[in-house]
Amino acid sequence: MDDLETLAGAIRSADTAAALTGAGISAPSGVPTFRGDDGVWEHFDEGQFTYGRFRRDPEGFWEDRLDLQEAMFGEEYEPNAAHEALAAMERDGHLEAVLTQNTDGLHRDAAAAVRGDEPGDPNAKADGTVLELHGNARRVRCADCGRRREGDPIFERAADGELPPTCDCGGVYKPDVVLFGERLPGAVIQRAQSLARESDAFLAIGSSLVVEPAASLPRVAARNGATVGIVNLESTPCDDDADVVRREDVTEVLPELRGLLESK
Ligand code: APR
Repeated sequence: MDDLETLAGAIRSADTAAALTGAGISAPSGVPTFRGDDGVWEHFDEGQFTYGRFRRDPEGFWEDRLDLQEAMFGEEYEPNAAHEALAAMERDGHLEAVLTQNTDGLHRDAAAAVRGDEPGDPNAKADGTVLELHGNARRVRCADCGRRREGDPIFERAADGELPPTCDCGGVYKPDVVLFGERLPGAVIQRAQSLARESDAFLAIGSSLVVEPAASLPRVAARNGATVGIVNLESTPCDDDADVVRREDVTEVLPELRGLLESK
């Protein structure tokens, strides 16, 4: 049996199935990855984007963050065929949730799109079950009062020289993403871990699977009996734990997988 057929069969018969994604799923949309050729961490020092630096030197942190934000999200980008395939699989009940390490918001856009809502429409009915493990770079959050705000106006204020940008309460805004050295939102990671434990089928898509705690989720799923599928251009430390490994472009494999799920 073809390996994708195996994966589709496991998803079809699963009580619970979930997918974890990383930067590789957004690469075909034009968002750079972190590692590998021309990855963001070849051009920026990841040690400058820690939570410790944000607390110690918010001005310098924000200055560097503006450059990183521009490098990552400066160009227009939209969901690609892989985001859309996962969103459709989630909408159709094949996947319980999409867990992502990405902060680009593209899974939510794709979920809204497959449900017929305009991306970013404030009246959108739903944007699917997307668990953003590392937060969302389109928002900022006040480090003191916790208020969340749309990011663009705050990034503009910072670019105009308000460094660091501050909230009405006087607290410093932080991009609403999980920085190195910062704890992941408890409820989100707990839900992700229990989904990995409960899943009968688990996909890892476009991630190097080297950053914890997300990196362990496919292994947790495999140890709990799930059929695990990995789609990534390069090898990952979890490949030996997977039942199916496809070293191919996500925009080829995911629509094909969705097609198999549709056909039966
Ligand atoms: N199809 C399939 N795989 C792809 C594609 C593609 N079109 N393009 C790139 N890839 C693969 C690369 O081979 C690479 O192994 O995607 C992977 C991306 O890996 P990383 O850049 O390490 O991204 P990710 O795993 O999401 O990183 C995890 O690290 O610095 C942090 O917080 C950041 O969330 C991020 C975390």
